[in-house]
Formats: sequence, structure tokens, C-alpha cells
Amino acid sequence: MDPIRNPYAPGAGQRPPELAGRDDQLTAFDVVLQRVARGRPERSLVLTGLRGVGKTVLLNALRSAAVRQGWGTGKLEARPDQPLRRPLSSALHQAVRELGHGRGEEVEHGLGVLRAFAERAAGSNAKLKDRWSPGITAPAVRGRADSGDIEIDLVELLTDLGGLAADAGKGLAVFIDEMQDLGPEDVSALCAACHEISQASLPVIVVGAGLPHLPAVLSASKSYSERLFSYQRIDRLGRPEADRALSAPAAEEDAEFTDDALDAMYDVTGGYPYFIQAYGKAVWDLAPGSPITGEDVAVAAPEAERELAVGFFGSRFERATPGERDYLCAMADAAVAEAERTGDDSRDPVGAVATADVAAVLGRTPQALSPARDALLKKGLVYSGERGRIAFTVPHFGRYLRDQT
Ligand SMILES: Nc1ncnc2c1ncn2[C@@H]1O[C@H](COP(=O)(O)OP(=O)(O)OP(=O)(O)O)[C@@H](O)[C@H]1O
Ligand SMILES: [Mg+2]
Repeated sequence: MDPIRNPYAPGAGQRPPELAGRDDQLTAFDVVLQRVARGRPERSLVLTGLRGVGKTVLLNALRSAAVRQGWGTGKLEARPDQPLRRPLSSALHQAVRELGHGRGEEVEHGLGVLRAFAERAAGSNAKLKDRWSPGITAPAVRGRADSGDIEIDLVELLTDLGGLAADAGKGLAVFIDEMQDLGPEDVSALCAACHEISQASLPVIVVGAGLPHLPAVLSASKSYSERLFSYQRIDRLGRPEADRALSAPAAEEDAEFTDDALDAMYDVTGGYPYFIQAYGKAVWDLAPGSPITGEDVAVAAPEAERELAVGFFGSRFERATPGERDYLCAMADAAVAEAERTGDDSRDPVGAVATADVAAVLGRTPQALSPARDALLKKGLVYSGERGRIAFTVPHFGRYLRDQT
């Protein structure tokens, strides 16, 4: 069918033609926004899930919802080994600009505090030319949010900016993607700041997104974090939503899928949003015409798999060293062995495996393998949701690895 009209959108953070299966989260978020704007108690929000389930896309959709309500919003993506101060300054600068009620004295003050906060990124003794501020023209306000202790500074900054938003009758929302990559100090500061602003009933919320172990990262930092954040697991789509993600965009282009085709698609995608887009795109391009049939899916699937093998799986596998690759492959083997023991007959067991079983596959001790495991955790290729067990962050990764050999 006409590739120019192909509606599907595989890609990191690519807005899907149809945002299927996220109505509950969107509705709940609207309630949160309205409550927070009225000074009602609400928890900040954290979205967790595997690679490619649609966390970034949902985060962006929530941000749009906040913008529609007139909130000031800013977004950042955490990176390992990158301190929070700079990217957060930029995000908050954007948020204050969006609040945009002229350039009154309070706004000048708020921006001045933000500037002082940002300038600490280079250290207190930095020369003027090395100081960094996110293009803020307001003069820095000294003595607030510039102690150099990120926890103190963040509390002061969010308190001041929250006050600014409250005066405008609006709210301020900060969106943090890949939140598991924040350093321990920054996580702790962020929790403390959220704690403080919620006690002060200020209209500020943090919305985070990250891998499934993010709640563990937060609670390791502050034990009260479980009460601070409302955790939402973003998962693969159920059958009706997966069908809608394919059928609705097709209908827009006057095309449709047969029931057979939808069966076959769910079989190969497992309802994972990234796979829905990737297979959808390949099937559309290769199908001779509408309706798209089960046979078209069978013909196009290998093409989609080839592309996934390079882009989605291969690019990640390549980031692992040879020793780490052995560990990943052993995880896949251990998962299959466990599935056989428990009678799970799906080709792609998604659950976690015991690190002891992985070690047994390699004939090593778990201790000897812990450097490889830690490196993989740091690269975000695996995660540990519970002690002694480990799982892939990438859906269908085990299947991919076993197909390689
Ligand atoms: N609700 C949805 N319905 C249909 N397609 C979706 C949905 N959510 C996301 N997608 C599609 O899935 C793909 C992955 O989305 P996204 O990048 O948001 O995932 P992610 O969870 O952030 O992944 P990662 O952990 O790798 O950052 C995109 O191509 C997007 O268009
Ligand atoms: Mg993402």
C-alpha cells in the first residue's frame, strides 16, 4: 500500500497515530491537575515500564494536558553521570516562561532565584565567564537556592517558583524522563523537595518516567517516597487496545485489517506499543491493498523482525561488552529453562530469573559475575525488581538473543 500514507510511527518518543489504552492515566491526571491547582493534597506521579511501552509518549501527552490547563511545564531527560542542576534549570526556566504572566516583579525575582540556582552548577568559585545560566536575563538573587547543597537549594527554588505559580492561579509541572538515571544525591533532593512542597500545598508536581526498578531507586533514597509518589505501571496493551492502535489509524486512510490479520499481529507484537508500530509499518508497506490479511502479516513479519534486530535489539546488544553479552545470553537460557520447569509455553518468558540460575548456566559463582551484572544494570539493559532476581528491560530480548545463536 502507499508508503507515503503509512500512518505508523515506530521510534523513541514518536507520537503514535492513535494513543491507545492510556485513557485512565489521562483522566486521572486531569483530576490531579485540578486538585493541585486548588491546593488539594496530591502525590507526584511516576510512570514505570519496560523499553518501548510508551512512557515517553505518555509523559509528553501528560505535559500537553498540563499546558492546556495553563500550567507552566518543563521537561528533561536524566542521563547517567549528569547532575540534575543544569537540565532542571532549563526545564524550570521554560516552565516559568510558560506561566507567562508578564514580567512582573515576582517573576523577575523567581527568575533571579532560578539563575542563582543554575549558576551554582559550575561550583561556587567559578569565574564569572564559566558560570552557566539558562539564558536568564534577570539578575541573580543571592542567598536563596544557591548554597551548593542540592537538597536545600531545590526546596528553596521549588518553594519560590511554586509561590509564583500559585499567585497566577496556575501550577508548575516538571517532567523527568529516564528518571532512574538520576544520581543518588539528586534523587534524594528531589524526594525532599516534593515532600516539602506537598506539605506547603504549593501547586507543583513532578512527573517522572523510568524503568521498572525506579520505585526501588526512590525508596532506597527516602523511605517516605512510597507515600510521595503515585506509581503507575505502563504496560503492553490488551487485545482491544492493540487492535485499536492498528485499526484507527488505518481507518483514517480508508484501510482496514481483517480479524485474521489482527490475530496475527497480536501474536507477533505481544501488544507492545513499539512492536505494534514497527510491524504495522512493515505490513502496510508490503500489503498489496486493503483489507490487510493474516497472510500479509506473515509475509511482512520477517522484514519487521530484520529491522527490529538492527535498530531495537542490535543497537542495545552492541553496547554490551563480550562478558556482558555472555551474561545476557545466559539470562535468556535461564529464562527458558525456568519456563520449561513451570510449564510456561510462551516463546518469550518476560519474568525475572534468579541470578544464581544465570550463574549456573555459565558455570560461575554469582559473585564472580556481579561486575557484568552491575554494568548491565547501569546501561539500563537489565533491572532487578526483587533481590536475587534479574530481568530484561527490553521486551522480547530473550527471544532475540536465542534466535541469534
Ligand atoms: N498508547 C500507545 N498506542 C500506540 N502506540 C504507542 C503507544 N504508546 C507508545 N506508542 C509507540 O510506541 C513506541 C515507543 O514509545 P516510547 O518511546 O514512548 O516508549 P518508552 O517507554 O519511552 O521507551 P524507552 O524506555 O525505550 O524510552 C513509539 O513508536 C510510539 O509511537
Ligand atoms: Mg522513553
